[in-house]
Amino acid sequence: MSASYEIRDGIAVITLNNPPVNGLGYDTRRAVVDGLERAQADAAVKAVVITGAGKAFSGGADIREFGSPKATAEPNLLSLIRALELSSKPIVAAIHTVCMGGGLELALGCHYRVTAPGAQIALPEVKIGLVPGAGGTQRLPRVLGLETALNIIVSGEPVKSELLASLPGQKLFDKVIDGDLMAGALAFANEVAAAHAGGKPLPLVRDLKVTHPNPDGFIQFSRNTVKAMSKNFPAPAKCVDAVEMSIKRKFDEGMQGEREIFTSLMFTPECKALRHAFFGERAASKIPDVPDDTPQREIKQVGVIGAGTMGGGISMNFLNAGIPVTILETKQEALDRGVATIRKNYEAQVKKGKLKQDKYEQRMALLKTTLSYGDLKDADLIIEAVFEEMGVKEAVFKQLDEVAKPGAILASNTSTLDVDKIAAFTKRPQDVVGMHFFSPANVMKLLEVVRGKATGKDVLATVMSIGKKIKKTSVVSGVCDGFIGNRMIEQYSRQAGYLLDEGATPQQVDKAVEKFGFAMGPFRMGDLAGNDIGWAIRKRRAQERPGMRYSKTADLLCEMGRYGQKTQAGWYDYQAGKRDAIPSAKVEQMIADYRKEQGIAPRKISDEEIVQRLVFALVNEGAKILEEGIANKASDIDMVYLTGYGFPLHRGGPLCYADTLGLFNVVSAMKRFAANPHDDASFWQPAPLLAKLAAEGKSFS
Ligand code: NAI
Repeated sequence: MSASYEIRDGIAVITLNNPPVNGLGYDTRRAVVDGLERAQADAAVKAVVITGAGKAFSGGADIREFGSPKATAEPNLLSLIRALELSSKPIVAAIHTVCMGGGLELALGCHYRVTAPGAQIALPEVKIGLVPGAGGTQRLPRVLGLETALNIIVSGEPVKSELLASLPGQKLFDKVIDGDLMAGALAFANEVAAAHAGGKPLPLVRDLKVTHPNPDGFIQFSRNTVKAMSKNFPAPAKCVDAVEMSIKRKFDEGMQGEREIFTSLMFTPECKALRHAFFGERAASKIPDVPDDTPQREIKQVGVIGAGTMGGGISMNFLNAGIPVTILETKQEALDRGVATIRKNYEAQVKKGKLKQDKYEQRMALLKTTLSYGDLKDADLIIEAVFEEMGVKEAVFKQLDEVAKPGAILASNTSTLDVDKIAAFTKRPQDVVGMHFFSPANVMKLLEVVRGKATGKDVLATVMSIGKKIKKTSVVSGVCDGFIGNRMIEQYSRQAGYLLDEGATPQQVDKAVEKFGFAMGPFRMGDLAGNDIGWAIRKRRAQERPGMRYSKTADLLCEMGRYGQKTQAGWYDYQAGKRDAIPSAKVEQMIADYRKEQGIAPRKISDEEIVQRLVFALVNEGAKILEEGIANKASDIDMVYLTGYGFPLHRGGPLCYADTLGLFNVVSAMKRFAANPHDDASFWQPAPLLAKLAAEGKSFS
């Protein structure tokens, strides 16, 4: 069913019914238009009420139809809204819970609107790189005034209905109905039906005037603000352009202008990137052979082993979600340090007004500490975050196997180690999984869920669902050295090293990459995370993969004791207590000496080459990861990079960006790099999947 029709108290009630949020897909639109015709033809019907079944009035367009002919098939949303306006019987929208995007535009086409308090009202199109496309930019300013409407449209953020209803002079809502919404809406519909019985014309939002004491000044101010705040995205500025038309043009001309802007944005790379991320986020939660109805295990208590950098942040995620946590350490001092850090983090949030004192106390009350494994016997999920050494992991998992209750999920936060080996330390490999959080674990969105050979489907389903509960973007990765994210970053870091060897400075590389849009370049990032971490990993890899080429500058840096911000010296110098990266003459000298030793005459390298070599290194490794089935789909790889590695959102992730450039062009550039004697020809061998897609003129998506 897509919308139902019934008569109550002489009023036709059309109820949108397209779960989960009553998206305005083709069948729903058709059913509403049919309902309107029925009501129109039935002399016994005095008025119409439109509402939504379940947990929404309407969340807007049906995203499942995006890109398909159904999305625009008649009656499209514009025609449906026109049909509402043309009805000779009053139409009342009865709004509750969620009224967003096309749902709000539909409501604005009705003659009257009543709302339950607490409904979320929004035009979120800007978040996928668009402007509202069914009159939102022209009608919302007519009912809420220029300023409020523009704020809602440019931010895309929801506002509670009762707040909007309380604004002086607002015409969005005719009534707020406390209590039974339908009873109130029917009574209201009967009232307006009586008032219009004599042929009094029905009110239309399109006939209202937008007024403002200084529209030009306000629009100019908005344009400047939006430009400063959203430099990589065209849509917010276009929202200002569209809203400006509501005051400068006649209604139908404004509608035409809105449509033109909507269509022009639809094909921009930024809109494509944002839609890719929007759908990628949803797609990441789907695992091909783990259906949505896979049984899950109940997670009521969590254990965390290790109260270091990661253990503390991991614990906070669960405390924030109201799940009790017990942290285990080997020494009381380590526990005390870990708990003090958690407290410090919460206190900073309280100070900034982001967390209420009582909430902070509630969260801390859920935290227990222990030095004894026996105290983890009731935990449903235990996450290990101890030192990154197989021997230490072995000891921990053997102990866990002894004490954990049957059915408890045993997870490792390892960043690079083999989860299958870790699982084999237990007699229950089906219960073992990787849960790879990113630092700071209480802030970063990404959770790589590492699926071992034996990991149970119910374990995966449970971990994906708990990831959602703690508000992470969870992406499944197979087992390999570094999983999706760190395996790709290894190649990116190798290229960054070669660039130094050939003549670039750390600051030039960082600046070029940051200009491209990365949150941080590779060298500033290394200094932040600690260069010694990569050093330890390289030492292990040197044994596992002898002869692998890389620039030795990163090792030399660590040999100089320059671990990064924590030693106030890394690729850059740092002043005590400050994070500003100051170029270091010592580092430049070390790099120059290394070049000399290698017989490399430095050359000037363009920013474009820097960005291409780093990003295409990610793309090539990403293609291998996809081909080997380590990632289930291309968009999963992009989500890892967008949510865990600061890849610029407006470029949609490395593989989406490569698609935008054209894979043929990517492969051609790789061939050029391979011919550079100081680069690494084998490094630039295109992954078979990439070569194949490029040759066939196809893309990753
Ligand atoms: P850390 O050195 O800050 O903390 C490790 C903690 O584990 C220490 O407090 C230590 O006392 C405790 N510990 C060591 N052996 C133990 C044992 N047998 N039983 C109980 N506690 C024990 O290390 P960090 O950075 O928190 O890393 C932990 C794990 O998380 C590693 O596997 C690491 O690869 C991984 N990881 C680290 C990230 C980072 O950015 N630091 C990011 C993602 C994963």
